[in-house]
Amino acid sequence: MARTYRSFAKINLHLEVVGRRPDGYHELRTIFQTVDLHDLLTVEAADALDLVVEGEAPPGAENLVHRAARAFLDRFARGRGARLRLEKRIPIGGGLGGGSSDAATTLVGLADLLGVRPSTGELLEIARGLGADVPYFLVGGTALGLGRGDEVRPLPDLPEETLWLVVPPVQVPTAAIFAALPEPVGGPDPGVAPILEGSWSGDLAQLPGRNDLTATVLAGYPEVRTVYNALIRAGASCVRLSGSGATVFAAFADPASGEDLSASLPSGTRVIRARTMSRATLEGCKLIEGTEGG
Ligand code: C5P
Repeated sequence: MARTYRSFAKINLHLEVVGRRPDGYHELRTIFQTVDLHDLLTVEAADALDLVVEGEAPPGAENLVHRAARAFLDRFARGRGARLRLEKRIPIGGGLGGGSSDAATTLVGLADLLGVRPSTGELLEIARGLGADVPYFLVGGTALGLGRGDEVRPLPDLPEETLWLVVPPVQVPTAAIFAALPEPVGGPDPGVAPILEGSWSGDLAQLPGRNDLTATVLAGYPEVRTVYNALIRAGASCVRLSGSGATVFAAFADPASGEDLSASLPSGTRVIRARTMSRATLEGCKLIEGTEGG
């Protein structure tokens, strides 16, 4: 029997670029947070590996889901296959980690389907090889990402809150943004210490921290700049880029103020009302009930 999983998006509540690494990547200190926007991934037993993609995402073997499945089968279930169907809802190239989330869900879904029990370390190793954000999606909730963002430590979950994901009509290529970054600026942000310690009692409207990719993205992508400035003008208390964009998330002191945001944004901009999710909520609703095999 087929099993269908919700594969959730993330935002970066905070993203500090600490420095360049010899391997070409950047050393980060970032705080990830799961949000309830999700793709759907269905896995089913089959002799060979096959992926069907519905919606806006690369088809077949070009998709990260296919690469994740190939890596998993080669390592843990040689000679076996799976039929996968991905229903894409998370905007791609949007800084919401949709492709990375789908890849992590593929690993978990295949382990369940095939009755393979890889250790957490083995799953994390495959996840790292697929992309810097993939390991986070094996953890979820509020979490700290160090190294390339792939050394993930769960943090105490923050309360679940409403926020707005505002997606300008443009995709931002992550590698190009990192390549165009000036030498790291800033330094450690003491404002986020209470989140790391689990003592922060504010709400998203007062979110501390920053995103060090912001200036580079706003300079290169006028569509993102326009949305960012429009959100500030619309009275959002927190306006922050997620990852390398293009998504900007916003929180209002009074969440009702976000209801008519679309009117103040350029046409083609998607506005998605979302909620942050704790690890406990997330674990309880990943697998869609009634799709479990016997
Ligand atoms: O690992 P992933 O494929 O998601 O990263 C995309 C690109 O973003 C990398 O090839 C790299 O150029 C850049 N990157 C970086 N430092 C990170 C994460 C990503 O420079 N910590």
